[in-house]
Amino acid sequence: MTQQTDSQQLTSQQLLACIESRQSVGQLVEPAPTQAELEQALQAALSAPDHHRLRPWQFLQVQGEGREALGQIFLQCMQESGVADATRHERVLAQPLRAPLILMAIIKTQPHPKVPKVEQVLSMGAAIENLLLMLNAQGYAAIWRTGEMAESALFRQKIGLKDDDEVAGFIYIGTAARQLAPRERLPVHDFLKDWPVSLP
Ligand SMILES: Cc1cc2nc3c(=O)[nH]c(=O)nc-3n(C[C@H](O)[C@H](O)[C@H](O)COP(=O)(O)O)c2cc1C
Repeated sequence: MTQQTDSQQLTSQQLLACIESRQSVGQLVEPAPTQAELEQALQAALSAPDHHRLRPWQFLQVQGEGREALGQIFLQCMQESGVADATRHERVLAQPLRAPLILMAIIKTQPHPKVPKVEQVLSMGAAIENLLLMLNAQGYAAIWRTGEMAESALFRQKIGLKDDDEVAGFIYIGTAARQLAPRERLPVHDFLKDWPVSLP
């Protein structure tokens, strides 16, 4: 007899509909997920494929006044890089206020004889997608952003990253400010090819 698991309670069509309904949303407002909902979404993230169980995932949770502190760091990094334009300063200060909750996704990479860094990075990509899907299923919206700060040495230093750490991105999370048009469905056959190609 086949073992009945929780995952089998959802049909594959329902799961596909849930996955396809996820869309990135830039305009995010309150409410953010509760802490319990966020932890459930992170639980999904932590079930990502992970070669040799290196668990290269860390999420730094930023909310409330923490977002202003993050904006100040963004500003310092921008000033340090020589940008003197006041309009850009204001814009960067306001960036973290675009959502009630931000997760900074940090890839804790480590040298490993069998798991190159790229595999650890890919694992974080899978973890973030799991997170986004679970947030979507909970009725929240999000967008994965990177930008200059993800690469800034000063930013890395200010948030206390180690040499092997990488910023996978900033996951802005909240409730969609407005409804979005459904996403375009891509034709699978544009992305799937037979191999080896049959000879004439
Ligand atoms: C690694 C990564 C970094 C991204 N960085 C940004 C970004 O800095 N700003 C942005 O507007 N979108 C960024 N995006 C794109 C959005 O997250 C989103 O995937 C894209 O707008 C497509 O929308 P969809 O998720 O609704 O398909 C990034 C996506 C990925 C995967």
